Amino acid sequence: HRWLLGMGSAPHHDRLRHVGSGGISRLNAVVLGEALAAEENDLVFPSHDFSRHAHISSPEQYQNMYERSIEDPAGFWSNIASQFCWKKRWNPEVCSENIDVRRGTVKIEWFKGGVTNICYNALDRNIEAGNGDKVALYWEGNEPGQDAQLTYAQMLEKVCQLANYLKNVGVGKGDTVIIYLPMLMELPIAMLACARIGAIHSVVFAGFSAESLSQRIVDCKPKAMISCNAVCRGAKVIHLKEIVDTALVESVNSGVPVDLCLIFENKSAMKRESTKWQIGRDVWWEDVVPQFPTKCLVEWVDAEDPLFLLYTSGSTGKPKGVLHTNGGYMVYTATTFKYAFDYKPSDVYWCTADCGWITGHSYITYGPLLNGATILVFEGAPSYPDPGRCWDIVDKYKVTILYTAPTLVRALMRDGDEYVTRYSRKSLRILGSVGEPINPSAWRWFYNVVGDSRCPISDTWWQTETGGFMITPIPGAWPQKPGSATFPFFGIQPVIVDEKGNEIEGECTGYLCIKKSWPGAFRSLYGDHERYETTYFKPFAGYYFTGDGCSRDKDGYHWLTGRVDDVINVSGHRIGTAEVESALVSHPHCAEAAVVGVDHEVKGQGIYAFVTLVDGIPYSEEVRKSLILAVRNQIGAFAAPDKIHWAPAIPKTRSGKIMRRILRKIASRQLDELGDTSTLVDPSVVDQLIALIDH
Ligand code: WTA
Repeated sequence: HRWLLGMGSAPHHDRLRHVGSGGISRLNAVVLGEALAAEENDLVFPSHDFSRHAHISSPEQYQNMYERSIEDPAGFWSNIASQFCWKKRWNPEVCSENIDVRRGTVKIEWFKGGVTNICYNALDRNIEAGNGDKVALYWEGNEPGQDAQLTYAQMLEKVCQLANYLKNVGVGKGDTVIIYLPMLMELPIAMLACARIGAIHSVVFAGFSAESLSQRIVDCKPKAMISCNAVCRGAKVIHLKEIVDTALVESVNSGVPVDLCLIFENKSAMKRESTKWQIGRDVWWEDVVPQFPTKCLVEWVDAEDPLFLLYTSGSTGKPKGVLHTNGGYMVYTATTFKYAFDYKPSDVYWCTADCGWITGHSYITYGPLLNGATILVFEGAPSYPDPGRCWDIVDKYKVTILYTAPTLVRALMRDGDEYVTRYSRKSLRILGSVGEPINPSAWRWFYNVVGDSRCPISDTWWQTETGGFMITPIPGAWPQKPGSATFPFFGIQPVIVDEKGNEIEGECTGYLCIKKSWPGAFRSLYGDHERYETTYFKPFAGYYFTGDGCSRDKDGYHWLTGRVDDVINVSGHRIGTAEVESALVSHPHCAEAAVVGVDHEVKGQGIYAFVTLVDGIPYSEEVRKSLILAVRNQIGAFAAPDKIHWAPAIPKTRSGKIMRRILRKIASRQLDELGDTSTLVDPSVVDQLIALIDH
C-alpha cells in the first residue's frame, strides 16, 4: 500500500512532523525542545467549575451516551432529530446503509422518508422559539470599525428576498448555484437562500483562480452564479469579478455557459462604475434583491435530497464534488456543534475559517445557526492591520468560543505574546482547532497565552467528507492531552487498521478507518459514484477509509498523524500533489514535475516541487517565477510552491512510478535516510538532485 509512505511509526515521532527540517528558527527550536519532552501522560484537566456547568461533565456521562449511540444508533439519533421541525417524519428504520463494497453499491441514507428544510430549522424555528431579536450574525469588515449585524428576524428577511429572487429567475429545487463570495454577510445568506428553495449550493473559496472556478462550473453546470465585484483582504484589493469573467469565458468554451451572474456591489472595495459588465448576463444584487418580498415559503425537501456540493482535493485527478444531503447533515452538524463547543445560548461564536471550505459550511453557517447561536463573520485577514486584530475582535464582540486553525496559532505565536496580552480576552471560555494536527507547543501556547490556562481546547478531527466532527474532545468531560484529538464523537466508531485491513487493538499506529455510517457522512461524489466507492470504500473493504494515519495511546486517546495519501495539507488547506503537478506541466517549458509535502513551521506543510524543463530551456530564476505563476493561475495563490528544485530527471522505478519516498527525503534534507535506491532505473539521478539542492 502506497499510503504507508510518509507514515512514521511511533506517535511522538509523528508529532514531530511539524518541527520543520529546513532552517532552524526560534519557533522550531521551541517546538523541538518541547515536543521531545511531551509525554502521552501529560493530562490537562478542565476546571471543576467548567465541568459542573458543561452539557457533559464527566467521562462516565460521555461513556454512557457514547455506548447508547453505538448500541442503538436509530434511537439515539431519532431522539435528537425529533427536536427539529419535520414536515413529515422519517421511516421507522432511521438509517439504512451499505458501506461494504463486497455487498454491492455503497449507499448511505439517514431519516429517509423524512421531509424537512434546513433553512427553516436554522432561522424560522429559532424565531418561532422567541429568538427573532437575538443577533444571528455580527459582521466585522476588513478595516477595524467597519461592522454590521443582523438579528435572526432580519437575517430571515434577507434570505427570503434572495430566495424569492432566485425563484423568480427560474432557480428551483435540484438546480445548482455556484457561490463565489468572500466573507461578507451575503455568503451565509446566499447559502441559506439556496437551501430554502431546495437548490444545491456549491461554494467556491474566493481564493481559487479563474481556472479552478471554471473547472467547478463545468462539473456542476450551475443555473446561476453569485459573486461580488471585489474584496479587500488586508492591504490588498482582489478583483473577484474579473476572475469570474475569465472563468465564465472558459466555461462557455467548454460548452457550459452560465446565463445569470448576480453580483454584489462590495462598495468599500470597489465602486460599480469601475466594474466591467456584461449586459444580459450580469445583474447587480442591490438593484434586484431588495425589491422582493421578505417572506418566502420554504420548499420542503426529502432528507436525502442534496443540500450542497463542495469540491475538495484528492490524491489523483480533478477535484471531487463532495455531496451532502439535508436531513442527516442538519442533525449531525447541530449536535456536534452543541457538544464539542459546549454551546450555551449566551455564547458569541467566532470561527476564523472561510465559508468556502467545509469548516465554514458546517461550523459558521449551519451548525451554529441551527442552535440559535450568534456567529461572527470576519471579512479581513487575521494580522491586519496588526497581529493583535484577532484579540481586538474577541474583546469587541465578547467572543466566548473561538474556533481556528493551528497554522494561525503558530503564526500569531511567532508574532509574540505582547499582541495577545494587550487585550483582555476574558470573555473566552472555549477554544477550538481544526485543519491539521496541532503540535503540542502550539497547543500549549493557545491554551496558556490565548486562553489564560482557563479554556479547554476542542481539537476537532474531521473532513469535508464527514460533514462534521468525528474525533473531538468534549470539553468538561475528559482531561485533555496537548496534541490529541482524544475520543470519538457520539455514533462514531473509529478503527485503526494495518495495511491488510485488519483492525489493530490497543496501543498502535495505522490507517484510520470508520466502521458504519453516521448522519453527516457524504453520500456520493457528484456525478461519479464509482470514484466515491474506489477512493473511500475499496481500500479497506467494510470500512470508510479516511486517508489519515492515526495512533492510539495506552489510554485510548487518538493522535492524528497526517495524510497518508498524496494530499498535502498547507495551512489547513487540502491540496492534491497531482493538481499542483498538472498545473506545473501545463507550463510550456515544463517537461515533468513531482510534488511532495515538506514540513513548514507555520503552514504545517509546504509545497516542494521537483521540475524538469524541456530540452534546451535554460534553468533560470525567470522560469522559476513563471512556473509559480502558472500554479497561482491554475489553482490559486494558496497552492503556490514554496520551493522549486531543478531536476535533470525524476527518480523512477522500472515500472515508471515516481519514487516519492526519496523525493520527500531530499526535500526535507534527510540525505542519510534515502534508503534503498537500487530499484531505480537510474540511481545516479539521486546524486544529481542532491547536487542541485542549493540551485
Ligand atoms: C486534516 C477540514 C489532525 C486531516 C475539516 C483530514 C486534521 C483533512 C484535523 C481534512 C485535526 C483536519 N487534527 N488533522 N483536528 N482536522 N485534519 O477536508 O488530514 O479540508 O483528513 O476538512 O485535514 O481536510 P478538509
